[in-house]
Amino acid sequence: MADYFKNVLLIGATGDLGQHILTALLQTTTTHPSQPLIISLLTRSNSTAKFPTHPSIAHIHKGDIKDATFLATAFKNQDIIISAISPYALLDQKLMLTVAAEAGVKRFIVGEFGMDTRDEQLTDSIRVFQQNREVLNHAVEVCNSSSMEYSGVICGAFLEMTLLDAEMGFDFSSRTAQIYDSGEKKIEVSKMEDVAKTTVEICFEKAKWAGELVYVSSFTVSQRDMLAALDKVGENGPWKVVERTTEWLQERGNKRIEKGDMMGLVDEIWAVAFRDGVGEAFSKKRKLVNEELGIPRGGNEAFVDAIRGIVGEWEAGRRK
Ligand SMILES: NC(=O)c1ccc[n+]([C@@H]2O[C@H](COP(=O)([O-])OP(=O)(O)OC[C@H]3O[C@@H](n4cnc5c(N)ncnc54)[C@H](OP(=O)(O)O)[C@@H]3O)[C@@H](O)[C@H]2O)c1
Repeated sequence: MADYFKNVLLIGATGDLGQHILTALLQTTTTHPSQPLIISLLTRSNSTAKFPTHPSIAHIHKGDIKDATFLATAFKNQDIIISAISPYALLDQKLMLTVAAEAGVKRFIVGEFGMDTRDEQLTDSIRVFQQNREVLNHAVEVCNSSSMEYSGVICGAFLEMTLLDAEMGFDFSSRTAQIYDSGEKKIEVSKMEDVAKTTVEICFEKAKWAGELVYVSSFTVSQRDMLAALDKVGENGPWKVVERTTEWLQERGNKRIEKGDMMGLVDEIWAVAFRDGVGEAFSKKRKLVNEELGIPRGGNEAFVDAIRGIVGEWEAGRRK
């Protein structure tokens, strides 16, 4: 039987991404029946999260995530830690990394799960990614001076979430699309189940991706591709379109930030992501793991199907 990371601790298991990772972890009883995982979860003392009962879930550690003693107890005997911690708590991973290395954890999957933070042209000017950089730099430092290794998953945008939350310019309530610049700039988007599956497969590929970012992408698409798919699957006629510039979006973001609305930081991400001529989709220059891990990489038809599924969820009232 191939050696693998058996004892897994997941942070943020009921979060937007974490719930998909937990599902994928529990599904390994079927996908990797001869390599059982012993799963532990870590949650904050004040969390109201409710966790499923499952024979593979061995422990739920509830405590203060800023307390090194609590973390050391939770991290003891873990082979791999998967951090799907909230974007609001990314910097808490620095203490977690330090404690994990001291506790003898073998691999730490840091909370990246977004744009290619190693693409300086694309992410240098985006404020939220400075925290990812800080955490990644700390991971490198900690791993250089211990036997722990780190990995991270780069997946582009979470397709379902960023589409339905109107982050990418599509407002489902008014069926209005704000198209930025040419609308032709290609970006990477991934289904959250694909991101989760990729993350979980790292547990079974012990010899791979130490000190590396793992690149996965379900689709490479532009805003106009999204609009075409939405128009194709909807039954209420074409979406209304408002043409904007990415400068307009950046300006809106700045005003929101001045008023203390942190959604302005999200505007900033998309103002750069959709800006013509700035950076390029990472599938053009990074090796994707899709084929190796059996993660589907869809063309236009599969993308339209994915959008049909998302629109169906919206219409059924499950994602409002
Ligand atoms: N690519 C994309 O489009 C995209 C979009 C969103 C997020 N992301 C990335 O995906 C990862 C997970 O993000 P997410 O949106 O899934 O996280 P989330 O749902 O906001 O939070 C995940 C969990 O983090 C824990 N947590 C710890 N400190 C917290 C705090 N101060 N505030 C709130 N929750 C806290 C909570 O778990 P307990 O209650 O159990 O403690 C929470 O359920 C992050 O790395 C994020 O940057 C990517």
